[in-house]
Amino acid sequence: MKHGRRYASFATTVAGMYDHQQGHHGWYVLYQALQVLVRERCHELVTLLEDCWDQRPVISDPHLVTLLGIGIRELGSHSSDIDRLFDAEEDTAKRASVLLSILDEHGADLAALVSSASNSFTGARRFVVPQMIIGAFAQSRGLDNVRSLDLGTGLGLLPRQLNNRNLFDRFIGDLACPAGLGFAQIPLTKRHGVDVYPLPTLEWVRSCFGPSAYYQARYDELLWSLDESAHCTDLVTLDPLDLLDYQELGNYIRDHEFNAVTCSFVLYQYGDEVRSEIIGTIVRNMPNPGLFLSMEPSHGLLQSGCAVLAYEAGSRVPLHVADITDGHFLGEMIAGPGLWRAITGGAMAKVGPDR
Ligand SMILES: C[S@@+](CC[C@H](N)C(=O)[O-])C[C@H]1O[C@@H](n2cnc3c(N)ncnc32)[C@H](O)[C@@H]1O
Repeated sequence: MKHGRRYASFATTVAGMYDHQQGHHGWYVLYQALQVLVRERCHELVTLLEDCWDQRPVISDPHLVTLLGIGIRELGSHSSDIDRLFDAEEDTAKRASVLLSILDEHGADLAALVSSASNSFTGARRFVVPQMIIGAFAQSRGLDNVRSLDLGTGLGLLPRQLNNRNLFDRFIGDLACPAGLGFAQIPLTKRHGVDVYPLPTLEWVRSCFGPSAYYQARYDELLWSLDESAHCTDLVTLDPLDLLDYQELGNYIRDHEFNAVTCSFVLYQYGDEVRSEIIGTIVRNMPNPGLFLSMEPSHGLLQSGCAVLAYEAGSRVPLHVADITDGHFLGEMIAGPGLWRAITGGAMAKVGPDR
């Protein structure tokens, strides 16, 4: 097999995602059927994966698995058997045979989708962490001019949500936070977001949510947040920009002098080398003081949780700011050893949440 090693790694990832502790949130029935085809090295699947890896060599395994799931649900939506594929009560072998017939019919379209689209699942609650950290950072460093950039912003929701006390108060009650952190106003003078061209639509974002009551609740929060922050739409500049174009990314950051950059649930879609290039480009081009806040799933997507890392302008050394028990930012935010260093730069400046 041409991509033998990648296939083995893909198989391990599918098994891990099937075993995910939050599997009941929607996708696990599909991953279970996929696992059957993976084990059987079924020809339709092998051909599809080889096409995907040829067309998009830098895609990570977890991203490929999620994107295949989204594509299968979308392209198979006209199949009369699609409901059986997502029915946990249905026999696994039957589900695997439904999946096989979808791959047989739509393999080429799936490969095309995987090579051109990205998973654009959007979390409505994730902005609370930059709100606290960047707000405290600005306060501690005496900044009155924060120029913010959100990378892989999707619909551009996060830039709209910043400084929205209503949204913050609605979500923060479900996230236990370290002492000393809370809402901290950010003196924003620029709010930008970038994503790949064409920028994702709400329809595409919707298709990235799993088929379950849990994801329906997350989607409802997203709609509510879009509504609640609609009055800020004009304050936000959304630009198409591919993070893999390091030159363009560096120029964009330098030209706008972004001193607060956020990136959540984007870098996991790439391997280590690409991630490191993106991080290096950001920190090299930010003014000092500047903070890059990266929020990514802790273990690819194989377990719940999110790691929050910060990078100071000019430094590739990650500061471990926090771990969040659930990537949808429900549960607990546990302080990491780099939390206060990221905020104060090592000085003992006193910062605290706004009252
Ligand atoms: C899973 S979504 C996360 C959306 C949002 N940041 C959040 O945390 O809810 C990942 C986003 O990153 C974008 N993305 C992936 N690769 C990118 C790239 N090379 N350049 C720009 N955006 C990218 C995708 O298009 C997608 O909208």
